Amino acid sequence: MKTALITGITGQDGAWLARYLLDLQYEVHGLVRRASSPNIHRLSRICGDELNSGQLRLNYGDLIDAGSLNRVIGHVAPDELYNLAAQSHVLVSFETPEYTANADGVGALRLLEAIRQNGLASKTRFYQASTSELYGKVVETPQSERTPFYPRSPYGVAKLYGYWITVNYREAYGMHASNGILFNHEGELRGEIFVTRKISKAAARWALGERSILFLGNLDAKRDWGDARDYVRGMHLIVQQAEPDDYVLATGEVHSVREFVDLAFDAIGVKIEWSGSATNEIGRDALSGEIVVKIDPSFFRPTEVDLLLGDPRKALNRLGWRHERQFPELVKDMVMADMARQKLIKANNLNLEIFI
Ligand code: NAP
Ligand code: GDD
Repeated sequence: MKTALITGITGQDGAWLARYLLDLQYEVHGLVRRASSPNIHRLSRICGDELNSGQLRLNYGDLIDAGSLNRVIGHVAPDELYNLAAQSHVLVSFETPEYTANADGVGALRLLEAIRQNGLASKTRFYQASTSELYGKVVETPQSERTPFYPRSPYGVAKLYGYWITVNYREAYGMHASNGILFNHEGELRGEIFVTRKISKAAARWALGERSILFLGNLDAKRDWGDARDYVRGMHLIVQQAEPDDYVLATGEVHSVREFVDLAFDAIGVKIEWSGSATNEIGRDALSGEIVVKIDPSFFRPTEVDLLLGDPRKALNRLGWRHERQFPELVKDMVMADMARQKLIKANNLNLEIFI
């Protein structure tokens, strides 16, 4: 039985990766931060049995606390360490740039050092959650492993350090350390302040009669959106390779935020009619004329990433990885999952914060 340690296990990818590895019979350990309210709702939903049985174990630690990382890594001595923990919101990184650098950049270094200092450099394989945000103001399209980086946010810059320190430890110490350069991936466990989940939740509420206006930022931003479950399968494949290396995981398809809105509301039978431009653009229910979407400039980023489109050919050729779930299906499933959740919340008068 292999042992894996996942940082960021309470997040979207961490929860799906834990599920995936548990199904492969791994012993899974997660690093969690202490929170004043329970924050393991994703794990409870999809790994509840294993949490109870002890096949999934949680250890307190924090990426900005080297001592805790040394202790947990020494204690678990994992075969595989997946570093998924991060302050992962791009706009928030402009509000908390120093913390983001510390956790997302130096955090990766702390983990690599903890592996080394515990004498595990030849045992523990390391995966770093790198990101398409590294390409930022893209210098070519589509973006591949050979495309130069040009990050556009404190988040992107912090992740740039995480990327290179992973490469450096691989080269300097012969560690099995790899980067997955992942393009956006979504699903029903996505955090609610990322644009896809914000939209799917708003569509679900609209269908159930809660007709509040959805305020969004840049509708013209374009992303290469895939399904998170396909991407955690790719993370695992990267770590299983004989030689460590860096891989882009992407769908190779691009869609705008506006298209996401169209499809999400289409899933509940509402056609959106767009009018106006820039900050005055409005999306209405074509049938009733009700306003569904408005622009709120506070969601604009000081420096935006206009377009991300990945070239996943290396992952296909070397790992045999490709995304499976198609974009329209992903959007529809997210809306349906949010509808089911909203119905349950309403029917049982549940505390939203604990449930979502
Ligand atoms: P997420 O849902 O925001 O989860 C982030 C996780 O990191 C949470 O478990 C969070 O814990 C934890 N965390 C944050 N700061 C920490 C700290 N200082 N110490 C320990 N844990 C900390 O993110 P995600 O979407 O699953 O993404 C996973 C990773 O992939 C991130 O590194 C992200 O930057 C990267 N990535 C994501 C995408 C994507 O499209 N999802 C694409 C490319 C790369 P709490 O629950 O306590 O907040
Ligand atoms: N969050 C958000 N909220 N984004 C909005 C909104 C809004 O109301 N309106 C428009 N957008 C635009 C953003 O400006 C951005 O261009 C795009 O929608 C996607 O935003 P997010 O969903 O916040 O994701 P992201 O692309 O910035 O970052 C995600 O993907 C990266 C990989 O490319 C995160 O998961 C990062 O952690 C990840 O590295």
